[in-house]
Amino acid sequence: MKIIHVVGARPNFMKMAPVYNAIKKYNIKQLIVHTGQHYSENMSDIFFRELKIKSADINLRVGSNTQASQVANIMTKFENIVLNEKPNLVLVYGDVNSTLAASLVCAKLGIKTGHIEAGLRSYDLNMPEEINRVVTDKISSFFFTPSKDGDTNLIKEGTDKKNIFFVGNVMIDTLINFLNVIKKRKRIDLPFSKFGVVTIHRPSNVDDPAKLRDIVKSLNKISKKIPLIFPVHPRTKKQLEGIKDLYFNKDRIRLTEPLGYLDFLNLIYYSSLVITDSGGIQEETTYLKVPCLTLRKNTERPITISEGTNTLIGTDYKLLERLVDEIISGNYKKSKIPNKWDGKASERIAKTIIKLNL
Ligand code: UD1
Repeated sequence: MKIIHVVGARPNFMKMAPVYNAIKKYNIKQLIVHTGQHYSENMSDIFFRELKIKSADINLRVGSNTQASQVANIMTKFENIVLNEKPNLVLVYGDVNSTLAASLVCAKLGIKTGHIEAGLRSYDLNMPEEINRVVTDKISSFFFTPSKDGDTNLIKEGTDKKNIFFVGNVMIDTLINFLNVIKKRKRIDLPFSKFGVVTIHRPSNVDDPAKLRDIVKSLNKISKKIPLIFPVHPRTKKQLEGIKDLYFNKDRIRLTEPLGYLDFLNLIYYSSLVITDSGGIQEETTYLKVPCLTLRKNTERPITISEGTNTLIGTDYKLLERLVDEIISGNYKKSKIPNKWDGKASERIAKTIIKLNL
């Protein structure tokens, strides 16, 4: 059997690493195709090194572009790879453009695909990721879900139950595998010991200058109560640079370049709270029991709210500031770790693939 893993953007790498390793225990040929959607050292290469993933066998080097051009470039290049390699199964991860492009190519060529992190829905088609999730799940062959709501959504959409496998969360597999290293890692140089972490990169938050300005204003207020560290995503950096007279309380907010996996998770682990619009960080904070305030009006990961540490803020910055107070005074809600977020999701995926006998 031959499997191709397709990855392209930062959040894919920590999902693929444990699945690749779990499948390695069986006699299966595996190829890693990196689409090159993310290409910078700190958005891509560092993750391969830190997570000890072997370098990609093939890099399509598509780089940044408009949504349509990026997807189209990946499709044209990936089609050739599939035609040459004739895999029995292609594994795609999460909800990025590379996920959508690769699954479309396979659907058209009649190649079986497994979607890892299937079934998640925000029901907000203004997000490029929701379009990617819905289409990928419509045309994939096998569905590996991180939480039961994924199964429910897929069944509601008419997916055949026999192809849905509730395996748990592969991103948490990586977190558990590296937890000791993360805890013991030397902290990046910081002038404070108690702090909150901020990440913002969604187009809905950063592409509108007025909204980005409001967010920064609120962060400035919050920073008076607790200092903040804010690794700035390239998209956000570009947008921030375009806003004139933007003021950051630099004494209390430390801006950095995007961080590698280990430095970032070390910060999250020891932080008092996280303010984010990321998908994956909602899950990592839930596992680590760190309060997470999400600057979005919806989430495709509702279990992080119902069971975990997450609260949706939308654009209600008063609520954000009130919840920061609650967290600081120790009155924030209690949480638990969701079912099958136990470090064994990838093993379950590997065993399932073997049973499928493709
Ligand atoms: C993509 C994913 C998003 C994910 C995010 C994590 C889609 C639709 N979006 O969004 O789901 O949460 O990755 O980062 O797939 N850039 C660099 N270096 C890089 C990559 C990008 O400097 O290695 C810059 C480019 O100027 C680019 C911008 O960052 O225009 C945004 O990158 P892009 O891949 O378009 O989307 P993300 O916002 O990163």
